[in-house]
Parts: sequence; structure tokens; C-alpha cells
Amino acid sequence: MIRKKGQIIRLDTPNTTLVIKADTAQYIYYGKKLVSAGGFDAEVFSHRDYKIFSDWHGYDYAENSLLFDNADAGFTASFTFSKSRILDEKPEIEGLPTSYGEGKTLEVKYIDLPTKISLYLYYTVYDDSDVIAVSAKLVNGSKKEIKLRRFMSLQLDFQGVDYSFVTFEGEWARERQKISRKIESGTFVNESRKGMSSHANNPFVMAEKEGAVYGFNLLYSGNHKEVMNCTGGYRTRILTGMNDFMFEWPLAPGESFSTPEAVMCFATDADKMSSQMHEFVVEHIVRGKWKRKERPILVNNWEGTYFNFNEEKLLEIAAAAKKTGVELFVLDDGWFGKRDNDRCSLGDWTDNIEKTGGGLAQLADKIRALGLDFGIWVEPEMISEDSDLFRAHPNYAIRIPGRDPYRHRHQLCLNMADERVQNYVIRAISDVISRSKAAYVKWDYNRSVTDCYAKGIASGEFYHRYILGVYRVISKIMKKFPNVLFEGCAGGGGRFDLGMFCYFPQFWTSDDTDARMRIKIQSGTSYGYPQRVMGAHVSAVPNHQTLNSNPIETRFNVALGGVLGYELDMSQMSEEDTAAVTSQISFYKQYRQLLQFGDFYRLGDAFGGKESGFMFVSKDKSFALASVFVTERFVNTYDDRDYSIKFKGLNEAFVYEVSQRKQNNYDTDSCFTAGGDILMNGGVKLSGIFQDTQAQKNSGCVFSRVYIFNKVKK
Ligand code: DGJ
Repeated sequence: MIRKKGQIIRLDTPNTTLVIKADTAQYIYYGKKLVSAGGFDAEVFSHRDYKIFSDWHGYDYAENSLLFDNADAGFTASFTFSKSRILDEKPEIEGLPTSYGEGKTLEVKYIDLPTKISLYLYYTVYDDSDVIAVSAKLVNGSKKEIKLRRFMSLQLDFQGVDYSFVTFEGEWARERQKISRKIESGTFVNESRKGMSSHANNPFVMAEKEGAVYGFNLLYSGNHKEVMNCTGGYRTRILTGMNDFMFEWPLAPGESFSTPEAVMCFATDADKMSSQMHEFVVEHIVRGKWKRKERPILVNNWEGTYFNFNEEKLLEIAAAAKKTGVELFVLDDGWFGKRDNDRCSLGDWTDNIEKTGGGLAQLADKIRALGLDFGIWVEPEMISEDSDLFRAHPNYAIRIPGRDPYRHRHQLCLNMADERVQNYVIRAISDVISRSKAAYVKWDYNRSVTDCYAKGIASGEFYHRYILGVYRVISKIMKKFPNVLFEGCAGGGGRFDLGMFCYFPQFWTSDDTDARMRIKIQSGTSYGYPQRVMGAHVSAVPNHQTLNSNPIETRFNVALGGVLGYELDMSQMSEEDTAAVTSQISFYKQYRQLLQFGDFYRLGDAFGGKESGFMFVSKDKSFALASVFVTERFVNTYDDRDYSIKFKGLNEAFVYEVSQRKQNNYDTDSCFTAGGDILMNGGVKLSGIFQDTQAQKNSGCVFSRVYIFNKVKK
């Protein structure tokens, strides 16, 4: 709800309140919901320097949200208030994905009087969400061209310099590791310059202090930047938006530029903040047929075969998978052109007849005849130099004439900023989906952008135009195939961002499928994203990335924290593992609604503690499931006898019967009964967690158990 009293504007969400003084562009308050009628005297509540945007003038030498070469010379701009209004319809942002839903939008307009350039800020509040969507637009009302150099989507200024900046960083195969550092002076920047949101620095960040956690994210898949800037010992500034790195955007008279949408929320602790973000992603970002639909359990042949397969092998895997209860077979890389390794054929989306035994259509039919849906891998935005596409259209690749381009995984990026290239990709990928009648598409992206150049596009516009092209292609293809389930992928989780989730309902979280690493990766990811969007697979041991060996039950207990799949040659599994997998899948199906759609909580501490876990609670709190992990065993200590965990999300007043999932070598039928309050506050002993004979065979592995909670009926 948005209420105005003069230019004091109050935005209420179910649990938070944001108050802005529009005429002076000040923040008055952002935090826990205010219950009083208000009375916000800016002089009392807000320093004049807590601003909702910052242009370049006067004495503000801090990080600015907006910087451009102004029409009257220099970088100076001094926007003054023009008007504010409440809109029933949220304005579209041309070419960019946005959140959606029932709500209201506040529009505030400022003008740089000497040049007549206008700045618009938008704040959208949804009826059912604590997350506020924010964006900005600049309209060149002057008579000269101006050049945008930085235009952030969101600025939030806090009183004091006592916040920690929490970021989710890593690299390929170790995405989104939580890192927290207190910033008391200077500037800390979390950013991507890779042309994609990146494995290294996710756009989701938090500003945190005792009793207050603010979460921020950006609906953008390209270069982004999140800044925590502390000035003069009295103010902390957060900026979120497109990166100004190599960015320069000319605006002719009358033209406008809109930023991507950013989002922010406030909660009193990180668990509550994550819940708010999860509900927002689920309700206001993910869309289409798969929004509320249970996601299928898949088998993917990548780690099972890599490039080395033929039709017989694929059918063997599919048949074995079907017997265990798998629902969807995904044919990964290597099925097209002459693709026997990663040196060739990207761009040639024609069937490799030898490897598919007569082409995709036929293979897909055979898979369907086994009772599985068929899914296909593609990497649409790439090109191999050894490809017919490159031979015919070398100019489709991103490279600078006269220079040897930088190659990664032996491949080049297609110039997605070029409409001819976009149209080629739309045609080629649509054809793959049509001829295979795929029910699922894995959309991969295995390198970042370098050698930015495209004839006719200024360098400073390239990165943004590239992403606009990507969004155009994805949205056109998805419109043609509204029933297909798309899973994004970028060498694992390199483009795991809200921009992508406006299209793809799920994303491959990481190429690292090792249970120990996945606990951290999935926990880190869960701060900003719900479990329903994270692809999580059980793979073979020793794990191909880390060489760790964990029991099949442990691997499952971790993978159930996301959208479950298997990624190994299932036809080669031992009888014992096949039996375990069969019962895992039937268990997962029984609890799939809860696991994919229930409220998610992190247990323990994956980034420091020895116990951690994932917990899923039904909306009415009458049943729940928790997967608990011990990643380190200390011997002959007090801890050795008393590993424990505090569960979360239950109803304190309910009494629950707690049982354990029966794992293949350990009879876990034993139950106990306890109140929600003691389960959450008391610290429940993890009895029996080390009595896992499979785990005992492997040194250094993760021990795990799954607990099931059912409310005892009176
Ligand atoms: C990277 C992905 O993350 C993998 O799952 C697999 O699809 C390979 N690419 C195939 O090249």
C-alpha cells in the first residue's frame, strides 16, 4: 500500500515500511513495519544526506547513482523535485525483464532545470510481498546529445557505518560462498565485468547488522555492480545496478534510458530475509506453466558419458533410469554436428546421426517409448571456429578485426547484439525443440564475453545490447514453446540471477556435484533464491570435480535440497545403489510438493559450523522434513557424543512425531515425539548419524540423516 501526505510518501508491505520525502529526495525510514499513523518530520528523522539518488553536484563526493556528460557541459547535474504520483500499472521496461503482480507503483520525477533532463524513480510494492522493486529512467529533454556513464537502479542510504556487506562469491564449481565483511570506511564493490552475472560475484547481496538485514538483488544477467560506500563516519550507501565498467550510452534529445529493476527487502534476521526473497521469486519473478508445477526428476547423461556415447548407451541409461522411477531423460552436450569433444560444432544444431542412431526425432521417440520424457541440451549463444556456421558467417562471432580473439573452452561467443544473429539462433533452436518434441531444454552458456566489438555498435553500448539480445532470443523461443520446461545453465551456476529466472523456472546450480561442496553452494544460494529454482543432482563417486566419495544416501540427502536429478551412468550402478536410488525416488515423489514448494530454512551453519542442513515446512506447519549434515567429526570430545541441531519453521505450540528416513544400510524407523518449541530451541541430538556403514568406509565424508515431522493429532 502506498500513502501520500504532501510529499511524505509511505510504502507499506506486510511487514515493513519505507518512508520517502519526495521533494527533498530523502529517505526518512526503512525497516520494521510502522504501526503508528506516522508524522515524519524530515528534520527529526532524516539527515539531509540520506538520499534516494545522487547526482554529481555540490559537496557530495561519495559514490553516485547517476553520472552523465550533461548537455550544458561537464558532469554536473542538480535534479530538483517536479512531482510524484501513484500508478496502478507498473511501467514496462523495454527489452528488460521485470517482476509482476498486484500492487502499486510510486513514480517520482526530478528535473535538471538548466537542461530539462528528467529523472524518474519507481518504487513498486506488491500486496503480498515484503520485497520492493525499484528502477529509474532518464529522459533527455535537452536539445543536445548527452552520454550516460553510470545509472544505478537503486540507492539506499543508512545512518551510521556499522553494517557488514555480505556477498556470495566464488568461481566455477564453487559458486555463491557466503562472505561477510564489516565496512566502516571506504568503498567495497561486488561486481561482474564478464558480460554475465558470473560465478564469481552474484548480484544478490546483503547489508547486515544486529537485528537488521537488508537484501538486494537485480533483475539483470549482464555486468552488474553492488557498492557499499561509507562516508565521513556517518552514512552507509548501497548502490545496485548495471556496471558502469565499459559503459557509455548516448541519449539523443527526446530519448530515454531505463535501468534494470532492482529489488530490496528488510527483515530482522537472515532467515526472515531469505523467506521474503524466496516468496518474491516464486510469486513475482518465476512465471508461466511451471510456476506452480512440480518439477520432474531427471537423469542427465553428461557426467555418465561426457561426449562418448551412442544410441545404445543412451537407451541403456534411460532404461535403467526408468526402472528406478526417473521421469525425464536429458541428452546433454555432444549430440550435434561433429561434436566428439569441445573443440567443434557449436552453432551447427544439426543431428549427429551416428551418435543419436538416426537423429534426434527418432531417439526422442525411443526414449518416450520407454516411458520417459525427452529433454535436450543446447548452447545457443556460442560458436566454434570449426563449424559450418562459422565458415559461412565468421562475422557472427564476437572478435575484433585483425586481432586473435580470446578463446575459452575453444569457443567464441556469438554476437547476440546483432539482430541477424538473434534471428538465426531463434530459428535454429526452435527447430531443435520442434523436431525432438522436447519437454525440457537445458540452455547452457559456457564462457564469458571478451573482445567486445560489433560493427555498428559503440563499444560502451556493447555489453548492454548483448544482454538485450539474449533476452529477446530467449523470450521469443519460450513464447513458441510455453509448455517446455527450460533449465538455465552457465558452466554450472554462472548466470544464476533474477533476470534469468524471469524466463527459466530453474537453473543448474553448479557443476560441482560433490555433496560436501554442494552443502555450501546450495546454502549460499538459498540466501537469495528458493530451493525450487536450484538444479541438484546425485552423481557418481569418486566425485568428478573433487574426488571425494560420499555414500549414495548422503548424495541424495544433499540433492533433495534442490530440484532432484541424477547425473551418472545409471546402467552401471550396483544392485545395492539401484535399490537405494529406487527408494530415494519414491521417497522424493512422496514429499516432492513439500520439498519443492514448502518454506525453506537453512539449519546450523554451512560456512563454519560442523552441523548444517536444509529444512522444508508445509504452509500450515503440520508437517516438515529436514536433511541434516555433519561435515566434520571430532573424536573423543564432548561434541562427539553430542552433535545436535536446532530445527526451524515449526509451530512452537504443535507437538510433532519425528521419524527418520530409512537409509539403505541403517534402520531408522525409530521415532520420538516433541513440541515445536523444544525442537527449535532445545538442540536435538543427532543420534545415530555416525552409524552409517557406507560412510564409515570412506574417510572424510559427510554424514547425513533425513528427519520427517508430522503434527500429532489431538
Ligand atoms: C557445462 C554444464 O554446466 C554441464 O552440466 C554440461 O552441460 C556441460 N557444460 C556440457 O558441455
